[in-house]
Amino acid sequence: MTPKTILVTGSSGLIGSGAVEYFDHQGHKVHGVDNNMRQVFFGAPGDTTWNLKRLRSVTKSFIHHELDVRDRIGMESLFRAHRFDMIIHCAAQPSHDKARDIPILDFEVNALGTVNLLEATRRHCPDAVFIFFSTNKVYGDSPNELPLKELETRWDYARPEDYNGITEQCRIDRTLHSLFGASKASADLVAQEYGRYFGMKVGVFRGGCLTGPSHSGVELHGFLSYLVKVALSGGTYSVFGYQGKQVRDNIHSHDVVRAIEAFAANPRPGEVYNLGGGRQNSISMLEAIAKVEKLSGKKLNWKYVDENRKGDHICYISNLAKFQSHYPSWSISIGLDEIFRQIIAEQASHLSNFGQGG
Ligand SMILES: NC(=O)c1ccc[n+]([C@@H]2O[C@H](COP(=O)([O-])OP(=O)(O)OC[C@H]3O[C@@H](n4cnc5c(N)ncnc54)[C@H](O)[C@@H]3O)[C@@H](O)[C@H]2O)c1
Repeated sequence: MTPKTILVTGSSGLIGSGAVEYFDHQGHKVHGVDNNMRQVFFGAPGDTTWNLKRLRSVTKSFIHHELDVRDRIGMESLFRAHRFDMIIHCAAQPSHDKARDIPILDFEVNALGTVNLLEATRRHCPDAVFIFFSTNKVYGDSPNELPLKELETRWDYARPEDYNGITEQCRIDRTLHSLFGASKASADLVAQEYGRYFGMKVGVFRGGCLTGPSHSGVELHGFLSYLVKVALSGGTYSVFGYQGKQVRDNIHSHDVVRAIEAFAANPRPGEVYNLGGGRQNSISMLEAIAKVEKLSGKKLNWKYVDENRKGDHICYISNLAKFQSHYPSWSISIGLDEIFRQIIAEQASHLSNFGQGG
Protein backbone atom coordinates (compact mmCIF):
# COMPACT_ATOMS: atom_id res chain seq x y z
CA MET A 1 0.00 0.00 0.00
CA THR A 2 1.31 3.49 -0.89
CA PRO A 3 0.79 5.78 2.09
CA LYS A 4 -1.52 8.67 1.28
CA THR A 5 -1.74 12.16 2.71
CA ILE A 6 -5.21 12.74 4.12
CA LEU A 7 -6.85 15.87 5.49
CA VAL A 8 -9.67 15.46 8.00
CA THR A 9 -11.62 18.55 9.05
CA GLY A 10 -13.55 18.41 12.31
CA SER A 11 -10.88 15.96 13.40
CA SER A 12 -11.65 16.19 17.11
CA GLY A 13 -15.32 15.40 16.53
CA LEU A 14 -17.07 12.07 16.27
CA ILE A 15 -16.58 11.14 12.62
CA GLY A 16 -13.40 13.14 12.10
CA SER A 17 -11.60 11.46 15.00
CA GLY A 18 -12.78 8.03 13.82
CA ALA A 19 -11.32 8.75 10.37
CA VAL A 20 -8.03 10.05 11.80
CA GLU A 21 -7.54 6.96 13.94
CA TYR A 22 -8.52 4.48 11.24
CA PHE A 23 -6.35 5.90 8.45
CA ASP A 24 -3.40 6.66 10.74
CA HIS A 25 -3.40 3.02 11.85
CA GLN A 26 -3.26 1.97 8.22
CA GLY A 27 -0.02 3.93 7.84
CA HIS A 28 -1.34 7.01 6.06
CA LYS A 29 -0.20 10.53 6.95
CA VAL A 30 -3.22 12.22 8.47
CA HIS A 31 -3.61 15.95 9.06
CA GLY A 32 -6.49 17.26 11.15
CA VAL A 33 -8.16 20.65 11.25
CA ASP A 34 -10.29 21.51 14.27
CA ASN A 35 -10.61 24.66 16.35
CA ASN A 36 -12.84 23.12 19.04
CA MET A 37 -15.75 25.16 17.78
CA ARG A 38 -18.11 22.52 19.15
CA GLN A 39 -17.42 24.12 22.53
CA VAL A 40 -18.37 27.54 21.12
CA PHE A 41 -21.66 26.09 19.86
CA PHE A 42 -22.59 24.00 22.90
CA GLY A 43 -20.52 25.25 25.85
CA ALA A 44 -18.31 23.11 28.08
CA PRO A 45 -20.10 19.77 27.44
CA GLY A 46 -19.25 20.17 23.74
CA ASP A 47 -15.53 20.57 24.44
CA THR A 48 -13.62 18.12 22.25
CA THR A 49 -10.19 18.65 23.82
CA TRP A 50 -10.37 15.25 25.52
CA ASN A 51 -10.76 13.59 22.14
CA LEU A 52 -7.83 15.48 20.60
CA LYS A 53 -5.71 14.43 23.55
CA ARG A 54 -6.86 10.84 23.07
CA LEU A 55 -6.07 10.98 19.34
CA ARG A 56 -2.58 12.26 20.02
CA SER A 57 -1.95 9.31 22.31
CA VAL A 58 -3.31 6.59 20.01
CA THR A 59 -2.00 7.74 16.62
CA LYS A 60 1.45 7.31 15.07
CA SER A 61 1.92 10.37 12.86
CA PHE A 62 -1.20 12.50 13.15
CA ILE A 63 -0.63 16.27 12.79
CA HIS A 64 -3.20 18.64 14.25
CA HIS A 65 -3.83 22.17 12.92
CA GLU A 66 -5.81 24.55 15.09
CA LEU A 67 -7.51 26.21 12.12
CA ASP A 68 -10.97 27.41 11.23
CA VAL A 69 -12.50 26.16 7.97
CA ARG A 70 -14.01 29.64 7.51
CA ASP A 71 -10.47 31.04 7.22
CA ARG A 72 -9.95 30.88 3.45
CA ILE A 73 -6.37 32.13 3.62
CA GLY A 74 -5.49 29.62 6.34
CA MET A 75 -7.00 26.80 4.25
CA GLU A 76 -5.11 27.97 1.16
CA SER A 77 -1.78 27.91 3.00
CA LEU A 78 -2.50 24.45 4.37
CA PHE A 79 -3.23 23.17 0.86
CA ARG A 80 -0.10 24.88 -0.48
CA ALA A 81 2.05 23.23 2.17
CA HIS A 82 0.69 19.66 1.70
CA ARG A 83 -0.55 17.76 -1.29
CA PHE A 84 -3.61 15.86 -0.09
CA ASP A 85 -4.83 12.65 -1.72
CA MET A 86 -8.10 12.74 0.19
CA ILE A 87 -10.10 15.35 2.10
CA ILE A 88 -12.70 14.15 4.60
CA HIS A 89 -14.74 17.21 5.49
CA CYS A 90 -16.54 16.73 8.80
CA ALA A 91 -16.21 20.18 10.43
CA ALA A 92 -19.67 21.63 10.93
CA GLN A 93 -22.19 23.36 13.08
CA PRO A 94 -24.11 20.10 13.43
CA SER A 95 -27.30 21.01 15.28
CA HIS A 96 -30.74 21.45 13.76
CA ASP A 97 -32.03 23.47 16.74
CA LYS A 98 -28.89 25.49 17.52
CA ALA A 99 -28.83 27.07 14.06
CA ARG A 100 -31.80 29.32 14.82
CA ASP A 101 -29.74 31.21 17.44
CA ILE A 102 -26.70 31.62 15.16
CA PRO A 103 -27.93 31.73 11.54
CA ILE A 104 -24.93 33.58 10.14
CA LEU A 105 -22.30 31.57 11.98
CA ASP A 106 -24.13 28.36 11.01
CA PHE A 107 -24.12 29.34 7.33
CA GLU A 108 -20.52 30.52 7.38
CA VAL A 109 -19.25 27.27 8.91
CA ASN A 110 -21.48 24.86 7.00
CA ALA A 111 -21.80 26.45 3.58
CA LEU A 112 -18.87 28.83 3.21
CA GLY A 113 -16.43 26.52 5.03
CA THR A 114 -17.34 23.76 2.56
CA VAL A 115 -16.82 25.97 -0.50
CA ASN A 116 -13.45 27.09 0.92
CA LEU A 117 -12.33 23.45 1.09
CA LEU A 118 -13.75 22.43 -2.28
CA GLU A 119 -12.10 25.39 -3.97
CA ALA A 120 -8.75 24.80 -2.25
CA THR A 121 -8.97 21.18 -3.41
CA ARG A 122 -9.77 22.21 -6.99
CA ARG A 123 -6.85 24.63 -7.08
CA HIS A 124 -4.22 22.50 -5.37
CA CYS A 125 -5.15 18.81 -5.67
CA PRO A 126 -8.05 18.35 -8.10
CA ASP A 127 -7.46 14.60 -8.33
CA ALA A 128 -8.03 14.10 -4.61
CA VAL A 129 -11.08 12.28 -3.26
CA PHE A 130 -13.35 14.70 -1.39
CA ILE A 131 -15.91 13.40 1.11
CA PHE A 132 -18.56 15.81 2.31
CA PHE A 133 -20.72 14.99 5.30
CA SER A 134 -24.20 16.16 4.57
CA THR A 135 -27.30 15.25 6.54
CA ASN A 136 -30.78 13.79 6.22
CA LYS A 137 -32.04 17.25 7.21
CA VAL A 138 -31.49 18.31 3.58
CA TYR A 139 -34.80 16.51 3.00
CA GLY A 140 -36.40 18.86 5.53
CA ASP A 141 -39.62 17.46 6.89
CA SER A 142 -40.67 15.88 3.58
CA PRO A 143 -40.07 12.34 4.98
CA ASN A 144 -42.98 13.10 7.35
CA GLU A 145 -45.32 13.10 4.35
CA LEU A 146 -45.03 9.31 3.98
CA PRO A 147 -48.03 7.45 5.39
CA LEU A 148 -47.13 6.21 8.87
CA LYS A 149 -48.61 3.76 11.31
CA GLU A 150 -48.42 4.09 15.09
CA LEU A 151 -47.17 0.97 16.83
CA GLU A 152 -46.88 0.39 20.56
CA THR A 153 -43.38 1.83 20.92
CA ARG A 154 -42.64 3.46 17.57
CA TRP A 155 -43.89 5.08 14.41
CA ASP A 156 -43.30 3.06 11.27
CA TYR A 157 -43.89 3.38 7.56
CA ALA A 158 -47.36 2.19 6.62
CA ARG A 159 -46.61 1.08 3.05
CA PRO A 160 -44.49 -2.01 2.35
CA GLU A 161 -42.56 -0.15 -0.37
CA ASP A 162 -41.25 2.32 2.25
CA TYR A 163 -40.07 -0.42 4.65
CA ASN A 164 -36.34 0.09 3.97
CA GLY A 165 -36.59 3.82 4.45
CA ILE A 166 -35.87 7.09 2.71
CA THR A 167 -34.01 7.01 -0.59
CA GLU A 168 -31.97 9.72 -2.30
CA GLN A 169 -35.04 10.37 -4.49
CA CYS A 170 -36.69 12.27 -1.65
CA ARG A 171 -37.01 15.94 -2.63
CA ILE A 172 -34.83 18.53 -0.93
CA ASP A 173 -36.78 21.73 -1.62
CA ARG A 174 -40.26 22.99 -0.81
CA THR A 175 -39.95 21.62 2.68
CA LEU A 176 -39.14 22.91 6.20
CA HIS A 177 -35.48 22.26 6.89
CA SER A 178 -34.38 24.37 9.89
CA LEU A 179 -31.59 26.82 9.08
CA PHE A 180 -29.10 24.00 9.68
CA GLY A 181 -30.80 21.84 7.04
CA ALA A 182 -30.69 24.79 4.64
CA SER A 183 -26.99 25.58 5.20
CA LYS A 184 -26.11 21.90 4.79
CA ALA A 185 -28.29 21.63 1.67
CA SER A 186 -26.38 24.59 0.20
CA ALA A 187 -23.08 22.85 0.87
CA ASP A 188 -24.47 19.52 -0.38
CA LEU A 189 -25.44 21.10 -3.73
CA VAL A 190 -22.12 22.91 -4.14
CA ALA A 191 -20.22 19.70 -3.32
CA GLN A 192 -22.26 17.79 -5.93
CA GLU A 193 -21.47 20.53 -8.42
CA TYR A 194 -17.71 20.21 -7.89
CA GLY A 195 -18.20 16.51 -8.68
CA ARG A 196 -20.48 16.95 -11.68
CA TYR A 197 -19.25 20.22 -13.19
CA PHE A 198 -15.53 19.86 -12.51
CA GLY A 199 -15.46 16.04 -12.53
CA MET A 200 -13.81 15.96 -9.11
CA LYS A 201 -14.04 12.80 -7.01
CA VAL A 202 -16.59 14.20 -4.60
CA GLY A 203 -18.86 11.93 -2.56
CA VAL A 204 -21.74 13.32 -0.51
CA PHE A 205 -22.98 11.32 2.47
CA ARG A 206 -26.33 12.30 3.93
CA GLY A 207 -26.08 11.07 7.48
CA GLY A 208 -28.83 9.59 9.59
CA CYS A 209 -27.76 9.46 13.27
CA LEU A 210 -24.00 9.05 13.29
CA THR A 211 -22.84 7.89 16.68
CA GLY A 212 -20.19 6.18 18.76
CA PRO A 213 -18.13 6.52 21.93
CA SER A 214 -16.10 9.49 20.64
CA HIS A 215 -19.07 11.82 20.53
CA SER A 216 -19.05 14.79 22.89
CA GLY A 217 -22.83 14.45 23.23
CA VAL A 218 -24.91 17.48 24.20
CA GLU A 219 -28.65 18.01 24.45
CA LEU A 220 -28.80 19.64 21.01
CA HIS A 221 -26.64 17.10 19.19
CA GLY A 222 -25.59 13.48 19.53
CA PHE A 223 -28.77 11.89 20.84
CA LEU A 224 -27.53 8.45 21.95
CA SER A 225 -24.38 9.85 23.50
CA TYR A 226 -26.37 12.47 25.41
CA LEU A 227 -29.01 9.92 26.44
CA VAL A 228 -26.32 7.71 27.96
CA LYS A 229 -24.67 10.72 29.61
CA VAL A 230 -27.91 11.65 31.38
CA ALA A 231 -28.61 8.03 32.34
CA LEU A 232 -25.18 7.65 33.95
CA SER A 233 -24.63 11.05 35.49
CA GLY A 234 -28.11 12.21 36.41
CA GLY A 235 -30.23 15.11 35.23
CA THR A 236 -33.42 14.90 33.23
CA TYR A 237 -33.73 13.88 29.60
CA SER A 238 -36.47 15.68 27.65
CA VAL A 239 -38.38 13.85 24.94
CA PHE A 240 -40.00 16.27 22.48
CA GLY A 241 -43.34 15.25 20.98
CA TYR A 242 -44.51 12.39 18.75
CA GLN A 243 -45.37 10.37 21.93
CA GLY A 244 -41.67 9.52 22.21
CA LYS A 245 -42.14 7.15 19.28
CA GLN A 246 -39.94 9.05 16.80
CA VAL A 247 -37.51 6.73 15.04
CA ARG A 248 -33.84 7.28 14.22
CA ASP A 249 -31.37 4.99 12.50
CA ASN A 250 -27.95 4.85 14.11
CA ILE A 251 -24.63 4.06 12.54
CA HIS A 252 -21.37 3.61 14.42
CA SER A 253 -18.56 5.95 13.33
CA HIS A 254 -16.47 2.88 12.43
CA ASP A 255 -19.00 1.85 9.79
CA VAL A 256 -19.10 5.42 8.51
CA VAL A 257 -15.31 5.41 8.09
CA ARG A 258 -15.50 2.05 6.30
CA ALA A 259 -17.97 3.67 3.88
CA ILE A 260 -15.47 6.49 3.25
CA GLU A 261 -12.80 3.88 2.56
CA ALA A 262 -15.06 2.04 0.09
CA PHE A 263 -15.90 5.24 -1.79
CA ALA A 264 -12.24 6.34 -1.87
CA ALA A 265 -11.20 3.04 -3.46
CA ASN A 266 -13.65 3.55 -6.32
CA PRO A 267 -14.92 7.14 -6.32
CA ARG A 268 -17.98 8.15 -8.33
CA PRO A 269 -17.85 11.92 -8.89
CA GLY A 270 -20.77 13.89 -7.49
CA GLU A 271 -22.72 10.94 -6.11
CA VAL A 272 -25.01 11.34 -3.13
CA TYR A 273 -25.66 8.55 -0.65
CA ASN A 274 -27.89 8.19 2.37
CA LEU A 275 -25.81 6.74 5.17
CA GLY A 276 -27.28 5.68 8.48
CA GLY A 277 -27.86 2.51 10.42
CA GLY A 278 -30.73 1.43 8.20
CA ARG A 279 -33.73 -0.58 9.35
CA GLN A 280 -31.60 -2.99 11.44
CA ASN A 281 -30.17 -0.17 13.59
CA SER A 282 -33.35 1.86 13.91
CA ILE A 283 -34.81 2.65 17.30
CA SER A 284 -37.47 4.94 18.76
CA MET A 285 -36.96 7.25 21.73
CA LEU A 286 -39.06 4.99 23.97
CA GLU A 287 -37.12 1.92 22.82
CA ALA A 288 -33.80 3.72 23.30
CA ILE A 289 -34.74 4.66 26.85
CA ALA A 290 -35.63 1.04 27.63
CA LYS A 291 -32.38 -0.18 26.08
CA VAL A 292 -30.13 2.27 27.89
CA GLU A 293 -31.79 1.35 31.19
CA LYS A 294 -31.36 -2.36 30.51
CA LEU A 295 -27.74 -2.17 29.36
CA SER A 296 -26.52 0.37 31.93
CA GLY A 297 -28.56 -0.91 34.85
CA LYS A 298 -29.52 2.74 35.61
CA LYS A 299 -32.96 4.27 35.63
CA LEU A 300 -33.23 7.28 33.32
CA ASN A 301 -34.99 10.33 34.64
CA TRP A 302 -36.96 11.71 31.69
CA LYS A 303 -39.89 13.95 30.96
CA TYR A 304 -42.22 14.27 28.02
CA VAL A 305 -42.61 17.70 26.41
CA ASP A 306 -45.80 17.76 24.37
CA GLU A 307 -44.32 19.71 21.46
CA ASN A 308 -42.09 18.26 18.79
CA ARG A 309 -38.90 20.02 17.68
CA LYS A 310 -39.70 22.19 14.68
CA GLY A 311 -39.25 20.25 11.44
CA ASP A 312 -38.22 17.09 13.31
CA HIS A 313 -38.54 13.75 11.54
CA ILE A 314 -41.20 11.38 12.86
CA CYS A 315 -39.71 8.22 11.39
CA TYR A 316 -36.39 8.41 9.60
CA ILE A 317 -34.63 5.30 8.37
CA SER A 318 -31.87 5.66 5.77
CA ASN A 319 -32.35 3.43 2.77
CA LEU A 320 -28.84 2.04 2.20
CA ALA A 321 -29.61 0.24 -1.08
CA LYS A 322 -27.87 2.76 -3.35
CA PHE A 323 -24.61 2.76 -1.41
CA GLN A 324 -24.70 -1.03 -1.12
CA SER A 325 -25.33 -1.46 -4.82
CA HIS A 326 -22.32 0.75 -5.67
CA TYR A 327 -20.15 -0.72 -2.90
CA PRO A 328 -21.36 -4.29 -2.30
CA SER A 329 -18.53 -5.21 0.06
CA TRP A 330 -19.79 -2.66 2.61
CA SER A 331 -22.49 -3.39 5.14
CA ILE A 332 -23.30 -2.40 8.71
CA SER A 333 -20.93 -4.30 11.00
CA ILE A 334 -21.86 -2.89 14.43
CA GLY A 335 -25.35 -3.46 15.77
CA LEU A 336 -27.35 -1.34 18.18
CA ASP A 337 -26.55 -3.28 21.37
CA GLU A 338 -22.83 -3.02 20.71
CA ILE A 339 -23.16 0.71 19.97
CA PHE A 340 -24.95 1.22 23.30
CA ARG A 341 -22.37 -0.89 25.17
CA GLN A 342 -19.44 1.08 23.75
CA ILE A 343 -21.00 4.46 24.51
CA ILE A 344 -21.89 3.34 28.05
CA ALA A 345 -18.33 2.08 28.66
CA GLU A 346 -16.76 5.31 27.38
CA GLN A 347 -19.07 7.57 29.39
CA ALA A 348 -18.57 5.47 32.51
CA SER A 349 -14.80 5.84 32.16
CA HIS A 350 -15.15 9.64 31.83
CA LEU A 351 -17.19 9.70 35.01
CA SER A 352 -14.70 7.61 36.95
CA ASN A 353 -11.77 9.76 35.68
CA PHE A 354 -13.68 12.84 36.73
CA GLY A 355 -14.32 11.28 40.12
CA GLN A 356 -10.56 10.84 40.48
CA GLY A 357 -9.97 14.48 39.59
CA GLY A 358 -8.90 13.58 36.03
N1 LIG B 1 -23.63 13.02 14.32
C1 LIG B 1 -24.72 12.96 13.60
O1 LIG B 1 -25.73 12.42 14.03
C2 LIG B 1 -24.74 13.54 12.20
C3 LIG B 1 -25.88 13.29 11.43
C4 LIG B 1 -25.91 13.78 10.12
C5 LIG B 1 -24.85 14.49 9.62
N2 LIG B 1 -23.76 14.72 10.39
C6 LIG B 1 -22.65 15.49 9.83
O2 LIG B 1 -21.46 14.74 9.90
C7 LIG B 1 -20.36 15.62 10.14
C8 LIG B 1 -19.61 15.16 11.35
O3 LIG B 1 -20.50 15.18 12.47
P1 LIG B 1 -20.00 14.85 13.94
O4 LIG B 1 -21.12 14.21 14.64
O5 LIG B 1 -18.67 14.20 13.87
O6 LIG B 1 -19.86 16.34 14.51
P2 LIG B 1 -18.95 16.82 15.73
O7 LIG B 1 -19.58 18.09 16.21
O8 LIG B 1 -18.70 15.71 16.70
O9 LIG B 1 -17.58 17.17 15.01
C9 LIG B 1 -17.41 18.34 14.23
C10 LIG B 1 -16.08 18.95 14.61
O10 LIG B 1 -15.89 20.10 13.79
C11 LIG B 1 -15.26 21.11 14.56
N3 LIG B 1 -15.57 22.39 13.94
C12 LIG B 1 -16.75 23.03 13.93
N4 LIG B 1 -16.67 24.19 13.28
C13 LIG B 1 -15.37 24.29 12.86
C14 LIG B 1 -14.67 25.26 12.12
N5 LIG B 1 -15.27 26.39 11.72
N6 LIG B 1 -13.38 25.03 11.84
C15 LIG B 1 -12.74 23.91 12.26
N7 LIG B 1 -13.37 22.94 12.98
C16 LIG B 1 -14.68 23.15 13.28
C17 LIG B 1 -15.85 20.95 15.95
O11 LIG B 1 -15.02 21.49 16.96
C18 LIG B 1 -16.01 19.44 16.07
O12 LIG B 1 -14.91 18.84 16.72
C19 LIG B 1 -20.94 17.03 10.23
O13 LIG B 1 -20.86 17.63 8.97
C20 LIG B 1 -22.38 16.78 10.58
O14 LIG B 1 -23.24 17.82 10.16
C21 LIG B 1 -23.67 14.24 11.68
